[in-house]
Amino acid sequence: MMEMDKAWCIHFDHYDPADEGRREALLALGNGCLASRAAAPESREDKIHYPGTYRVGCYNELITQIQGQDVKNESIVNLPNWLPFSFRMERSDWFSLDDVTILDYEQTLHMQQGLLTRKVRFSDEQGRQTLVQERRFVSMAQPNLMALSIALTPLNWSGKLELQSNLDGRVINNKVTRYAPFNKVHLEILNTGEWGENGIELLARTNQSSVTVALAARTNLWIAEQEHKAQRVVNHEDDHVSDYRRISLREGEEVRLEKIAALYTSLDIPEDACARTAQETLLKASDFDTLFTAHKDAWQNLWQRSYIEVDAADQLCYFRLHIFHILQNFSPHTAKMDVGVPPSGWQGEEYHGQVFWDELFVFPFLTFHFPDSARALLQYRYRRLDTARKLAKENGYRGAMFPWRSASDGEEETPPFQLNPISGEWMEDRTCLQRHVGAAVAYNIWYYAKVTGDQQFLADCGAELILEIARFWASISKHNPALNRYEIHGVVGPDEYQTMYPEANSPGVSNNTYTNVMAAWTLCQARRLFEQLNPQRQQELMDKLALSSEEFEHWDEVSRRMRIVFREDGTISQFEGFDQLKEFDLQKFREKHGHQRLDWALDAMGDSVEKYRISKQADTAVLLYLFTPAELVNQFERLGYSLNEDILKRTITNHLSQTAHESSLSRFIYAGALASLSTDQSWSFYKEAQQIDMSPEDKGASEGIHLGAMGGTLAVLLHRYLGIKVKSDYLVITPSLPEALSPVRISLNFRGAEYVCEISRTAEPLVKVAERVNAGHINLNLSK
Ligand code: BGC
Repeated sequence: MMEMDKAWCIHFDHYDPADEGRREALLALGNGCLASRAAAPESREDKIHYPGTYRVGCYNELITQIQGQDVKNESIVNLPNWLPFSFRMERSDWFSLDDVTILDYEQTLHMQQGLLTRKVRFSDEQGRQTLVQERRFVSMAQPNLMALSIALTPLNWSGKLELQSNLDGRVINNKVTRYAPFNKVHLEILNTGEWGENGIELLARTNQSSVTVALAARTNLWIAEQEHKAQRVVNHEDDHVSDYRRISLREGEEVRLEKIAALYTSLDIPEDACARTAQETLLKASDFDTLFTAHKDAWQNLWQRSYIEVDAADQLCYFRLHIFHILQNFSPHTAKMDVGVPPSGWQGEEYHGQVFWDELFVFPFLTFHFPDSARALLQYRYRRLDTARKLAKENGYRGAMFPWRSASDGEEETPPFQLNPISGEWMEDRTCLQRHVGAAVAYNIWYYAKVTGDQQFLADCGAELILEIARFWASISKHNPALNRYEIHGVVGPDEYQTMYPEANSPGVSNNTYTNVMAAWTLCQARRLFEQLNPQRQQELMDKLALSSEEFEHWDEVSRRMRIVFREDGTISQFEGFDQLKEFDLQKFREKHGHQRLDWALDAMGDSVEKYRISKQADTAVLLYLFTPAELVNQFERLGYSLNEDILKRTITNHLSQTAHESSLSRFIYAGALASLSTDQSWSFYKEAQQIDMSPEDKGASEGIHLGAMGGTLAVLLHRYLGIKVKSDYLVITPSLPEALSPVRISLNFRGAEYVCEISRTAEPLVKVAERVNAGHINLNLSK
């Protein structure tokens, strides 16, 4: 087993059935093409375990009757399980962790190598002690390969041992209890079989999207380092296939089994080539250790591009964990695919693997380290631009209206109902009115263009995307002649609790500050980015989109006269009417009812969260997470409102007192928003946000990790604590580092050149920059 360097490892020293689900997600492995939960190979789905194998972007849509309506549900598909392996001694059952006495247990994720290890020493009811040592990886070098190695040693017995290695198609999407009423059988199994001396295979197809999935495995055995050609018996069933072998072992003798699996889908290659290619890949593939060397090297390359060092080992470990998960979900392999950012990564079934606005938070890390992956995320949106245009039209708007939740084709996937797990009743879901998702796409286009200087992307698709999003904002903004201001009605801001006014007839709220400011900002930036194009491309786009100078003038006017609602004390309101809602005593509620989600808890009591002045998550504060106070003051000035730091501080304090932080996106956003207003408060939110998914109390993590929060903490580090900003063609670094982080050494990719910066908190912040690869003349202007 490998040495453990604490800042590179996530380690568990005991088995805890109650925490197994979270560990399966936290320690899941992926390569940006495939993802595999860290389930025990000997387990099948039950109350403790949930093996899950996923192919990035492999969705299937099913219809379920809910409340008399046909509700469609497009979901990432849990594919046939490649992992199953178990063994049994004479006169005993197949090994299961839950049935033996565990004497030692260690499970470790080695992030540097992308390796998961498990070591179990157990005793069965006859007192036979056995050591199980397991290693596995999902190859970063060969995106369709996964590998498992298991060594078994009888410690105080000799005798016969039966081994079974399976491919299991008896899987459904069953991880998330509150999705239980949705149809969840997404696969039909077409065939199971065997090939060569050591191969088994299984062919499946998703039952609506018709994606062919070919899974094959090669199983080899070694006893005392000699390959053992034990006679095997293959058992084919309709939906699974098993390879059985019998061997005899002497006390202290080790048998090692290697299972190498290949998974291809018709999303990768033609349908009729999937099964053949899976077999051929395995016939060519070398042994576990050789494959592992290539995998490790691929990870080393990724880590070099994502270099970060801080002295505190716990901090370093969090940074690495968050980077690790981002890279497992968006590796350079993903950059060649057509996928978005599912908030819980590809290793879970939370939110059905659908795409929301969480790309906004993952984007800065990717842009500064893997710009190709960032561009691919924008291209995913560009390919769905026509659908977004169609959605705008259907809703009576112009331009492009991106859906709140989407999956394969860019259609709106937000279900009209959500199951209240407390009452067991269905609740109406109006969160699809979060039109601000389009602003996240616009912001990312602007950010990408700024950091990379990629004019080609802007000309090819970035400008068209942002222009169409701007056009949508102009068309949803209605002029209020009484105030001579533009207003946006019938939307939902980031706070998903406030989706309708109490007693109102129609859903949504009016003049959500975050939405309105982002709309005005997009209208302004779209024009600026357009002006960066050469005149010929400008004319082409004007013609293609039928844009006129009058339309630009109208955008300019809307972007200057958007309405912002203020409270009587001069601070900014979350939306019009928010402050007239009933006061809510969160502390008292918690004391009485514990930590229940308020929308569900209140609904179960026959009440409704919308009546109260309480937010699920940071809303207006997102503005201060994205922009510095000075930038926001400028934007308000353009809108004709005067703002200053004091108003911003009081606004955030007020909003904080009304925020329940029931989204994983809330704390790091407040950490960013408070970074220059109240450093201690910021750091305290930051520390909490960093620990996302790290505690057994984080029960939700079992359904998938929280990528938005992981990316968000890295973004706060970059933008706020390190103070990295792009100014035309140079970087400005204005650090205000919390003491616990100083010094930070970090690599950055700026305009094609790789830099390593060392930033320390000293009386005069100290910044040292070295260029790693000389790729052009970059003028680095280090302020302070
Ligand atoms: C939040 C959304 C977020 C989604 C996925 C929800 O709980 O309210 O803002 O996009 O989770 O992370």
